[in-house]
Amino acid sequence: MARGGEKGQGRPASPEVQGRSGNPVPEPAVAAMFDRIAPVYDRLNTLMTLGLDGRWRRAAVAATAVAPGGAALDVACGTGKLAASLAERVGPFGRVVGVDLAPRMVAAARRTYRDIVQLEFQVANALDLPFAAEFDAATIAFGLRNLADYEAGFRQLARTVRPRGWVVCLELSLPRPRPLGRLYHATFRRFAPVAGSLFGQRDAYQYLPDSLEGFPDPEALAATMRQAGLVEVSFRRLALGAVALHRGRVP
Ligand SMILES: C[S@@+](CC[C@H](N)C(=O)[O-])C[C@H]1O[C@@H](n2cnc3c(N)ncnc32)[C@H](O)[C@@H]1O
Repeated sequence: MARGGEKGQGRPASPEVQGRSGNPVPEPAVAAMFDRIAPVYDRLNTLMTLGLDGRWRRAAVAATAVAPGGAALDVACGTGKLAASLAERVGPFGRVVGVDLAPRMVAAARRTYRDIVQLEFQVANALDLPFAAEFDAATIAFGLRNLADYEAGFRQLARTVRPRGWVVCLELSLPRPRPLGRLYHATFRRFAPVAGSLFGQRDAYQYLPDSLEGFPDPEALAATMRQAGLVEVSFRRLALGAVALHRGRVP
């Protein structure tokens, strides 16, 4: 795995934080790629996660600890599945906002969930969130990996949450022990573009394993969250370590 900052953009990661500090692919290219795959994203996601993504999202919602009537922000919301689960949890007297950089993802989310009154979607950049500390929790699912600066992403999420609220991150990871992780990554590297090509999106689905290359392991990601000012940081490995669920509290 690359050491802090070798492959990432901008400042190097701290010595405690292993792996790259951000996604080296420029933001406009990331947004254009997700815009292209928006129409097939949900079907491909179900195929590639063998339908387990629903279970992971439910775990992320539970980790927010938001109560009925509460407010939550879902960053890099994609087609809106996690935001919709959060909206179900807070109920009609709550408020959930989903934001994403790719306008077609936001359009798809709005179309699918237009009847849920407590749920709205906006185009916004995770690294420049247009909110004050107005939410009880903020989430990011399979989105952090795409940001140019992971720590800055956590700082932004934390900034939108009231004191004592949770920031929750669901993200791909590499199974352990390391040889199993390498085998998994090699398989994923072959399988993702093939799955993408079934939907005419081979190139976009090459990006997926690329974005996992050098991404911090769960311990390093927890260190990044602490560097961003979060406290009581903890994580769970899901799916034999192929996914990690982190949370940290805003002091
Ligand atoms: C793999 S999808 C995950 C979508 C959704 N959260 C889910 O769990 O299915 C990653 C999403 O991150 C969004 N994204 C990438 N960079 C972003 C940024 N800087 N700000 C906001 N969203 C971003 C993409 O447009 C895409 O919709």
